[in-house]
Amino acid sequence: MNSIPFISDQQISETLDFPSVATVLGEAFASLATGGAAVHCRQRTDCHDLRLSTMGAVWADRTVGGVKVYPTVRGQFSFSILLFDLASNQPLAVLDGNEITRLRTAAITTLVASKAAAARPRKLALFGTGLQGRAQVAALCGWFEFEEIALVDPAGDAAWAEALARSTGCRVAFTTPEAAVRDADIVVTATRSATPVFDGAWLAPGAFVSAIGTSTPKGRELDDTTMDRAGRIIVEWKPQSLAEAGEVVLWAGRSAASPFVDLPELYAGQAPWRPVEPAITVFKSVGVGLADVAVAQLAVSRILPGRAPTGRGQA
Ligand SMILES: NC(=O)c1ccc[n+]([C@@H]2O[C@H](COP(=O)([O-])OP(=O)(O)OC[C@H]3O[C@@H](n4cnc5c(N)ncnc54)[C@H](O)[C@@H]3O)[C@@H](O)[C@H]2O)c1
Repeated sequence: MNSIPFISDQQISETLDFPSVATVLGEAFASLATGGAAVHCRQRTDCHDLRLSTMGAVWADRTVGGVKVYPTVRGQFSFSILLFDLASNQPLAVLDGNEITRLRTAAITTLVASKAAAARPRKLALFGTGLQGRAQVAALCGWFEFEEIALVDPAGDAAWAEALARSTGCRVAFTTPEAAVRDADIVVTATRSATPVFDGAWLAPGAFVSAIGTSTPKGRELDDTTMDRAGRIIVEWKPQSLAEAGEVVLWAGRSAASPFVDLPELYAGQAPWRPVEPAITVFKSVGVGLADVAVAQLAVSRILPGRAPTGRGQA
């Protein structure tokens, strides 16, 4: 009897890197823009204090489809992905999803910042230096050459900050929210905070803000001032993002004229990636199933090359 191959987090961390993940994410969202991919909104099922969430997509251009599923227990996640070959209609693999989630969440900030932030950013401000925050800074430093990285985290780890300074050659220091945000070209929030982590009045006029933390309608890392000042609010995919993101749902100033644009619209050329006039750009990420399916497909193609489908859209 055939069994479904399993790919572990360790295999994924040994095989994938931020640039290749960013590339496949761009390809997947470009497919979404042309109808070569489809995605469904996250389903959350709650019972008492336990939750199960599922998010999935079909990437027809690569003849794969799949779903990421994860429980939330005491605030912690445990991600798994099941990927199918839609040419043979057979399961391709079961994958640990923790490393894929870490890689794709950091890579999507870098992908969007590389296209929508001002060129040559000098200062990065990072709120939250946990698992996701550290991945965010690692991915961004692989693309941009910062001079300064300002860190904000009440549980700051000085040894990690020193190691970051050595590996990047940047000035790195923990500081206050205001000192971090003032003059920052890129601001990333990667906390579990349900309330805004800085005052949007402190943002520089052309700042790029990536908020990747909370993805529930009841929590937000960005305040109304940030949203009011933004000339452009980029989201991954409007049907899910506008319903899930607390930054959007709780925003008092939201209106039909609010400057939302999603990645399929940007890849379709319906709006420019960079604002015409210098303006604050917000990228609000909640995480969508297409990103998980795309990176799972990349992992299978590298780790189990004999099983990878050829895909309709590939050479
Ligand atoms: N957008 C996505 O696709 C996506 C994917 C995975 C995780 N997430 C979210 O990312 C967030 C972070 O996850 P994690 O695993 O890194 O968590 P974590 O617990 O490892 O790290 C969070 C860090 O934020 C710090 N923090 C808390 N409040 C803060 C504040 N006000 N200012 C600065 N720092 C603060 C904590 O001290 C901690 O070090 C979670 O909310 C998670 O749901 C989003």
